[in-house]
Amino acid sequence: MNENYKNEQILTTADDIPAEEPKRQYYFIEKLKETVKAKSESLGRPLTCKVVTFGCQMNARDSEKLRGILELVGYEPAQSEEADFVLYNTCTVRENANLKVYGHLGYLNGIKKNNPEMVIALCGCMMQEPEVIEKLKKSYRFVDLIFGTHNIYKFAELLYLALTSDRMILDIWKDTDKIVEDLPAKRTYSFKSGVNIMFGCNNFCSYCIVPYVRGRERSRRPEDILEEIRRLCGDGVLEVMLLGQNVNSYGKTLEHPLSFAGLLRQAEEIPGLSRIRFMTSHPKDLSDELIQTMKASKKICRHLHLPLQSGSSRILKQMNRRYTKEQYLSLVEKLREAIPDLSLTTDIIVGFPGETEEDFQETMDVVRLAQYDTAFTFIYSKRTGTPAAAMENQVPDEVVKDRFSRLLSLVQEIGRQRTGRFQGQTLPVLAESVNEQDPSLLTGRLEQNIVVHFPGTPDLIGKILPVYLKECRGFYYLGERSPEKIYES
Ligand code: 5AD
Ligand code: SF4
Repeated sequence: MNENYKNEQILTTADDIPAEEPKRQYYFIEKLKETVKAKSESLGRPLTCKVVTFGCQMNARDSEKLRGILELVGYEPAQSEEADFVLYNTCTVRENANLKVYGHLGYLNGIKKNNPEMVIALCGCMMQEPEVIEKLKKSYRFVDLIFGTHNIYKFAELLYLALTSDRMILDIWKDTDKIVEDLPAKRTYSFKSGVNIMFGCNNFCSYCIVPYVRGRERSRRPEDILEEIRRLCGDGVLEVMLLGQNVNSYGKTLEHPLSFAGLLRQAEEIPGLSRIRFMTSHPKDLSDELIQTMKASKKICRHLHLPLQSGSSRILKQMNRRYTKEQYLSLVEKLREAIPDLSLTTDIIVGFPGETEEDFQETMDVVRLAQYDTAFTFIYSKRTGTPAAAMENQVPDEVVKDRFSRLLSLVQEIGRQRTGRFQGQTLPVLAESVNEQDPSLLTGRLEQNIVVHFPGTPDLIGKILPVYLKECRGFYYLGERSPEKIYES
């Protein structure tokens, strides 16, 4: 199989290709426009594309950037994977995520047999794993383009190479310290957007593969972030989600350090912006300054995602989380006192190596005390290369499954009780979409991130409206539009 590790050298031999970014990518965007136009003329139809996202919100935002380039160069979005260009933006946080991708690839191969024009591409976290690349090279030779997390900004250049060559284009970098600004993006929603504030992670929790596949922590400059938010607001966005693996350590590596709370206070000043969300917070770095900033803010949503992972101080130590059960609980107490209407959500892993029933009961105890609105519960997944993968005492499957189902029942019971706390109140809801089951309803969210369905017409999508929360149905509300004021930012 021919691969191309050295595409940069091949391309830089042409004199007119700019070396600096993002100029270089805009050069390839122009080249791509010509290539896509010629191909669609020869086929007598437009070329279509489909980007499929696995994993987290960071990946979802990356996919918007990839779609931005595809549409700019002339691809039309397709509804399904029966398209001329299909890109899977992968996740590798748990083994299941990898298995899903291999399953989908088999399906894509079937489609490609009927469409020889089809180009199949893979990117994202899973591509940063050497074993994955070996397997793809050996058994998935029909894949045309593979790139990783660090060179995603070179997508235009790599796509051009893939379209103009019959070789498998493979370009994976180990790490980078670079952040390339000002590339296009195609937003999924007109009224809300993710905004990256930092990339990578320095925490090395012992179970987690992210620091290995996303590299070291790098913060974007505040002026670039604020300018992006200003531009989004000028374009009708009223809610932003600030994204990073550990937003609470934002700014530490900047030339002029700025705290995350400081960044939030500057974002608050932006006219037109109504709601600010952020994700994810590491408990060890959550400062009093942030709590006070949230408390004083009119725009920061009353929702905090604060991953617990385990309630046992002994397991937390093994996980390298750098807080104890008591420290976590006192943080929750401080938050509840400062921001009483806060909705707290979390991530919990069950079955970390060496977890005993007593450890598990500590987790159950924290769940009862912290009163989460929602908790995402995961079965521990062994990730090759992480310290936890080499630990002895992996917990047997039946034991993990039993704990998992007990945890899930508790989390759901508490979640149901918590969600009902606003019943009978009228609160602002951002209308986000037409309800999938009943088109006479709209679906929106409270600032606490709780879903509300209420009668309304599609012209209201993207507006923040007062909604009377009539009936709580477990994890969501049925509501009615209230004739009171429309909320302005
Ligand atoms: N196994 C199970 N869950 C994991 N997570 C991260 N790594 C693993 C793993 N190896 C979970 C954590 C994290 C969320 C995004 O995924 O709970 O917060
Ligand atoms: Fe998946 Fe983590 Fe990568 Fe997000 S950062 S795509 S959750 S592995």
